[in-house]
Amino acid sequence: MKLFLDTANLEEIRAIKRWGVLSGCTTNPSLLAKEHSDWEVQMKEVCAEVDGPVSLETTEKSAEAIYEEGMKLAGVAPNAVVKVVMTPDGLEAGKRLVEQDVPVNVTLTFSPAQAILAAEIGATYVSPFLGRLDDAGADGMHVLRDICEIFEVQGYQTQVLAASLRHPMHVVEAALSGADVATMPYDVFTLLVKHPLTDLGLEKFDNDWKKLQKELKEGAR
Ligand code: G3P
Repeated sequence: MKLFLDTANLEEIRAIKRWGVLSGCTTNPSLLAKEHSDWEVQMKEVCAEVDGPVSLETTEKSAEAIYEEGMKLAGVAPNAVVKVVMTPDGLEAGKRLVEQDVPVNVTLTFSPAQAILAAEIGATYVSPFLGRLDDAGADGMHVLRDICEIFEVQGYQTQVLAASLRHPMHVVEAALSGADVATMPYDVFTLLVKHPLTDLGLEKFDNDWKKLQKELKEGAR
């Protein structure tokens, strides 16, 4: 499973990139709005910083306007992926973008039925939002598992991109479910590396090593 960062923040991207585990990035209008008043500049900078696909979301509502906006977003950078929302107009525009060889990510997906539609238009990614399903009293992980099973049974090529992940167990369970990609905010990414036993173990190794160096210096060994 590939790990993507769900952000439009360059510092966050640079920090995780240094770990050598970052395969891509997803943005949305809310994330871009937090960063820069000139969102076009921000989009370009994010795409330039990420070695992998970067999802850029359309904001228009009619199929024609989404398509036009999508074509512009596809031209932002060679690694741009165009996000369309799971609506009839989003699907229509998404299908037209796919026909122009533009990689498409169908976002705001909350059910297996919606995910099937994304696969049928030939989207590169479909993004089920787990955390928001949980917030609404549903079982986001159950929906993700069903989508992964359907895609496996049907042989769909569309990649399942688990989104709206809120904690490390979401990431672990997404991997167990067979998701192709997990996208998560910076905070969740940094939690993946943390374990109290790692910290305790490091402290003990450090202390034992310093003790040995001290004893050698004092001739006690
Ligand atoms: O970018 C899409 C998705 O990951 C947003 O997550 O936390 O706003 O529900 P969240």
